[in-house]
Amino acid sequence: MALSGSSIVSIDDISKGDLDELFELADRICARPGFGTRLASGVVAATLFYEPSTRTRLSFESAMLRLGGGNISVADVRSSSVTKGETLADTVRVVSGYADLIVLRHPDDGAARLAAEYATVPVINAGDGGHEHPTQTLCDLYTLRAQHGHIQGLTVALCGDLSHGRTIHSLIFALARLGANMVFVPGDGKDVPDHVVRRLRRDFGAVVQKREMGELRVLFGEAVSAEEKVFVDAIYMTPTEQNQLALLPEVRIAMDAKSGMAIYVTRLQKERDHQTSDDGLMVRRYPRVSKALLAHSNFKDVSILHPLPRVNEISTDMDDDPRGLYFKQSAYGVPIRMALLCKMLNLEDSQDLHRGWQPLRSAIPIRPSMFLVASPDFACTNDNCITRHEAPRNRAYYELIRDDVAVARLRCAFCDVESDFAVAGNTASRTYFGQRQLHRMRKPVAPQHLRFFKTEQDALDAGFRAPRRPVSAAQRHGESRRLEAVQT
Ligand code: NCD
Repeated sequence: MALSGSSIVSIDDISKGDLDELFELADRICARPGFGTRLASGVVAATLFYEPSTRTRLSFESAMLRLGGGNISVADVRSSSVTKGETLADTVRVVSGYADLIVLRHPDDGAARLAAEYATVPVINAGDGGHEHPTQTLCDLYTLRAQHGHIQGLTVALCGDLSHGRTIHSLIFALARLGANMVFVPGDGKDVPDHVVRRLRRDFGAVVQKREMGELRVLFGEAVSAEEKVFVDAIYMTPTEQNQLALLPEVRIAMDAKSGMAIYVTRLQKERDHQTSDDGLMVRRYPRVSKALLAHSNFKDVSILHPLPRVNEISTDMDDDPRGLYFKQSAYGVPIRMALLCKMLNLEDSQDLHRGWQPLRSAIPIRPSMFLVASPDFACTNDNCITRHEAPRNRAYYELIRDDVAVARLRCAFCDVESDFAVAGNTASRTYFGQRQLHRMRKPVAPQHLRFFKTEQDALDAGFRAPRRPVSAAQRHGESRRLEAVQT
C-alpha cells in the first residue's frame, strides 16, 4: 500500500512495485465490469483544473463515480476566487477541507509539488505546465504493456514537441526506469530539455547516441529530401553494463521498426511556446503519421500512441488501422485511474476505509529522501516555475547535483530545471566560493548554511566576502570529497 495517503506529483513517486500492482488491479477492473461500485462510497475528489482538459478530468471523474464516490469541481477557475487573487497554496488548503483528494492541473511547472506542500489531502498531478503528467504515463505504459506484452527492451520513438510536452517528460523517466530504449524525434527546435537528458545519464545510466534516422525519416514526409541526413538521439538503457557499453562504439540501438517499435506522437504545445506562431507553421519539420507514410511492410508491427488531443500529427485514416492505439489508450484512463484511486485512498480491502471528514489534517510530507538546500536568495531560472509566481512553504529549495567533479548545479525541487550558480556562500563564515572552487570551503558545510548566488555581486550585496586564504593543491584535491560530504 505504498501509494496510500501520499501525493503523486511526479512519475518518480510511483515505484516499479506500485506500477505492477496498479496494472494488475487495472486488469482485474477491465475483466470485471461493475468492479467495486461501492468501494468509494462517501469519498469525494476535487478536480481543480486551471487549464482545459477533456480526457484527464472526465476519466478521473468517471473513475471516481464508477467506484461509488463523488466529485466536486470548479467549472472554470475564472469563476473561483483565483480571479480575486487567491494563491494556489490557499486554494488547496481550502479545498482540502472539502475533499479527500485533489486532482490538479495548472499552467506552472512544479505547481503540483507546491500544492502537495500545502494540501492536507493527497494531490494528484494532472499536468503542471510543461513539467510532468504522471497519470497520463500510467495510461501510456498500460497500453504499451497490453500491446507489446513487455516494456523492458522495447524501443519507443518519442515524437513531436519534446521540449514542452509534459506527457513526454514523465514517460521518458518511466521508460528509462523500466529499461525501454528510446529514440527522440523532435520537431525542429523542440528537443528534449538538457536537464532531462543529463538526468537520464546521471540517474539511469543511459547511453545517448546520435544516429541517422534510417527508416524513421518517413515521419518527416516530404520535409526531408532523400539526400538530407537527419540525426536523432537514441537512448539506450543498459542498467547493469552502461559503462562498458559506452566505450564500445559498435554498440547500436535497434532503430528498425520491424522488431515491433512503438511510435508515440504529440502535438505542438503552442500554448507553452512563445516562439512558435499560432498555426505552428514556423516549425518546418514536425513528425507526423499517416497510413501512406507507414505503408512499408517494415512498419507492420508498430503501434501508434498519442496522449491526445491530436491536431494534425496523426491522419484520421489511422483511426481504424489496428496499429493506431490512441483511442484505446485514452479509454484505459478510466480503469488505470480507478486502480490509482483504490490504491491512494486504500479502498481495495474494505468498504469502510474512508478516513472521514477531518478538516485539520496536517500537510503530507513530500519526497523526503531528496537532499534539499533552501536558498531564499536564489530564484529558479525557469520563468514558468511556480516558485517564480508563488513562494513555497519552505522557500524555493533545490537538490545540489553534480554531473562531474567540476560542475555542480541546483535542480529545482518543483520544476526539475537545473540552474547554474556563480558562487556559494557559507552563512557561518560569511565567505563565498566560486562554483568550481567549492573545495576551498574549509569544512563540509551543513545544508542550512549554504546560500547560492547567480553572480559574485549578489553574494557581496548579501554581505558575503571572498575567502582570504590562497588555494593549495591539497585543498583542490579535496574538492570531490567536500562536495560529496555536502551532498550526503
Ligand atoms: C495532454 C496534456 O494535457 O498534457 N493531454 C492529456 O492529458 N491527455 C497532451 C496535450 O495537451 O497535448
